[in-house]
Amino acid sequence: MSDELGTQITNTKNSAHVSSITEKFDKTFGRPPTFIASAPGRVNLIGEHTDYNDGYVFPVAIDKYINIAVRQRSDRRVVTHALDVNESWDFSLDTLTSIPAQAPAWSRYLIGVAALLQESGKKVAGIDAVITGDVPIAAGLSSSAALSVAATLAFLTAGSESEVPISEQDKTKLAALCQRVEHEFAGVKCGIMDQTISLLGQEDCGLFLDCRSLAYEHVPFYLANHAIAICNTKVKRELAASEYNKRRAECERGVEILSRWLPGITSLRDITLADFKKHEEELPTLTQKRCRYVIEENTRVVEAVSALKCTDKVTSHLPDESLIAFGHLMNASHNGLRDDYQVSCMELDLLTDIARNITGVAGSRMTGAGFGGCTVSIVHKDALEAFQAHVTTEYHEKTGIQPEIYLCRVSDGAQVFWS
Ligand code: GLA
Repeated sequence: MSDELGTQITNTKNSAHVSSITEKFDKTFGRPPTFIASAPGRVNLIGEHTDYNDGYVFPVAIDKYINIAVRQRSDRRVVTHALDVNESWDFSLDTLTSIPAQAPAWSRYLIGVAALLQESGKKVAGIDAVITGDVPIAAGLSSSAALSVAATLAFLTAGSESEVPISEQDKTKLAALCQRVEHEFAGVKCGIMDQTISLLGQEDCGLFLDCRSLAYEHVPFYLANHAIAICNTKVKRELAASEYNKRRAECERGVEILSRWLPGITSLRDITLADFKKHEEELPTLTQKRCRYVIEENTRVVEAVSALKCTDKVTSHLPDESLIAFGHLMNASHNGLRDDYQVSCMELDLLTDIARNITGVAGSRMTGAGFGGCTVSIVHKDALEAFQAHVTTEYHEKTGIQPEIYLCRVSDGAQVFWS
């Protein structure tokens, strides 16, 4: 890796990854990459399963990345190697309509991105690419969104052969393109949150996103005395895709029924809790629970963000009381996901219970789609050692599984680093 490349990278952890991917690229293709497209995973702090209901979310980008080292080719082929699974896949930009059954799952995201960029009229060039990352796969931290976003930057940059300045407005459009990749090439009817935060993340800020208008605000989330601790249940999210699509359909059904009494509503976002309470009896029990959760969660996001609006003017730190109020709302969010939306599981509940019993934990909840994956907790720095010890021992005692704990920094969104 050239020193020049290294000095452009402020995050030392990702800098190490970038250095190693550069060497691996050189080994695979016999010359160095031209640039590296890098996109972060995310942890959603509050606002779960609200994005596809036109609601509010509040995620942060984390210092875990998918990196793609790239060199343009003179033909229309895309030759890729995924280091972490040691698989290669090679395709032509001229035959993207039918994906062979044996194409590895990760390659579908690259094919999808290339196909949709071409469809939208962008110039897409053939590339040699090496992919690696440290966003845990299928753990609810958006590894697939990070892969789509990194692939988008890779193709766009290679197509223009120079740095492409991407405006904030363009980033919102690219997020929508990456969401379509998930819908059309991976079969998950996801919302817009993961792709948007991976593109628009900002260091020490959460993204308060209105998933209907796509208006957003970077809200300072500078932690002085606390840390974000992500705990991985290590449980595979077997049900995630099918149950996810089912929840989405249940919410749509709820809107359809409620619109008989509340004409003009087009999503759960349009319904106040007071109106919902007047008409909830009209809904089948399960639909009622799903809708109640989403309507309450939207209110919680708005309250949680306003709890953060009292950053200390001098230090720009968040006062402890703000985080404690924020943490209460995180706990309530998890309870709703567990009891009404029913997307939690024994392991996620256990991890949040262990966390909440530790003095110094402001709040703890599952994060992402659910059915396994990770929890996120806001932990006072003085309690971090106890937190790590308790979570590891008690979770292992009860499940036989060794959890993983990641202490994450709130980081910037996707970037391109030049060699
Ligand atoms: C997944 C989806 C997101 C969002 C969350 C749940 O991460 O990709 O769009 O719906 O689940 O909040």
